[in-house]
Amino acid sequence: MKEIKVALFGVTGYAANYVYTLAHPLREGVRLIAAVDPFAKEFDACPVYDTAQEMFRHHAPDLCAVATPIHLHAEQAIECFKHGSSVALEKPIAADCASAKNILKARDEAGKLLSVGFNLCAESAVREVKRDVDEGLFGKPLSFKSLVLWPRDRTYFNRSSGWAGKKYSRDGKPVFDSVLSNATAHYLMNMLFMASSPMKTLDCRTYRANPVETYDTAIMKGMTENGADVFIAVSHAVEPERRQNPLMRYEFENAYLTFGVVGGNERVFVAHFKDGRVKRYEEKTDTYQAPFWNMIDALRGKDVIACPGETALMHVDAVEKMRLVRPESLPFPKELINEKDGYTFVPGLADEMFELYEKAELPSGEIRTLGGVNR
Ligand SMILES: NC(=O)c1ccc[n+]([C@@H]2O[C@H](COP(=O)([O-])OP(=O)(O)OC[C@H]3O[C@@H](n4cnc5c(N)ncnc54)[C@H](O)[C@@H]3O)[C@@H](O)[C@H]2O)c1
Repeated sequence: MKEIKVALFGVTGYAANYVYTLAHPLREGVRLIAAVDPFAKEFDACPVYDTAQEMFRHHAPDLCAVATPIHLHAEQAIECFKHGSSVALEKPIAADCASAKNILKARDEAGKLLSVGFNLCAESAVREVKRDVDEGLFGKPLSFKSLVLWPRDRTYFNRSSGWAGKKYSRDGKPVFDSVLSNATAHYLMNMLFMASSPMKTLDCRTYRANPVETYDTAIMKGMTENGADVFIAVSHAVEPERRQNPLMRYEFENAYLTFGVVGGNERVFVAHFKDGRVKRYEEKTDTYQAPFWNMIDALRGKDVIACPGETALMHVDAVEKMRLVRPESLPFPKELINEKDGYTFVPGLADEMFELYEKAELPSGEIRTLGGVNR
């Protein structure tokens, strides 16, 4: 078996997961040979370089795993393709559609592979659901909805080099980091992945309680090009004790799928058929860094890429369409915001997000905390 030589872009933050998985590989013949990270001088797993150009002067990796801040994805992925490497890129694919399309062009010119790190496309249990969807087991997709309430404290918003929640980096590159492009991106992506279709039309509301330029709370409702309704409600600004892990409900002609439970940690898709049958897609043991190991299999011709660039583009396209509808988020009124243990939050918001999720509706003017501001 031919060895796959890997270079890693970024070694701390989320990239530390790649360092760990490469030190405890799930496949044979995969070796970390170099890293690029101008801020990591102490790293001893392999030589570290400040720039991609410098690394490529010394090494010829088969695969680059790029787990750097969002605004660096496009330039670094394109540089890797120019040097003949395939790329396992972290999600989101890029800050905007134009940058994402430049990545796809560079991939095609190089004739190399690109996968994007959406775990909830690459885990085998999820791929089993997707196969059943594609084979028509549930019938035509009708509607998809998701709710994720993940309170985040100030250390999250102040982490690393200060790009969290920014529209542009210090040197003017688009970032557009938000609750939907980062922490809860997987759930918006999963709906579009299952629908196999990008958003055609949408409306949305975006809000902020934390010091972000984009938004920490969002509700989006729309329709895919192939006619399925889509709804998502996400927030980092709910009460710290009201954390809700992803809840999803997908309606098809012959069945509905659920994922997650109210107040619980379960992350299993369950299909409930109209004739009373139930099919559970139990989580497998292959969830850790699944997109990366899927890419290794794809490079060896043993699998297809679970989340190719075109799939990931649907996520960034939806977020960009939201930006066109709501270029600016609304600040929650100061009198509604509370602070506790480093969390900035809006009391009552979690209950309202649950209500909106139940109805799959955007907030109206009458809703207490969200709709106080009638747009
Ligand atoms: N798949 C997931 O579940 C998941 C979870 C969290 C974050 N992420 C993604 O991972 C990526 C990184 O996020 P993060 O919060 O860890 O970011 P971060 O700011 O902590 O940076 C990650 C690493 O990139 C390095 N870095 C910064 N500038 C660099 C440069 N010019 N060249 C090379 N390395 C550089 C940093 O030093 C750090 O080691 C983002 O795309 C984010 O969306 C994915």
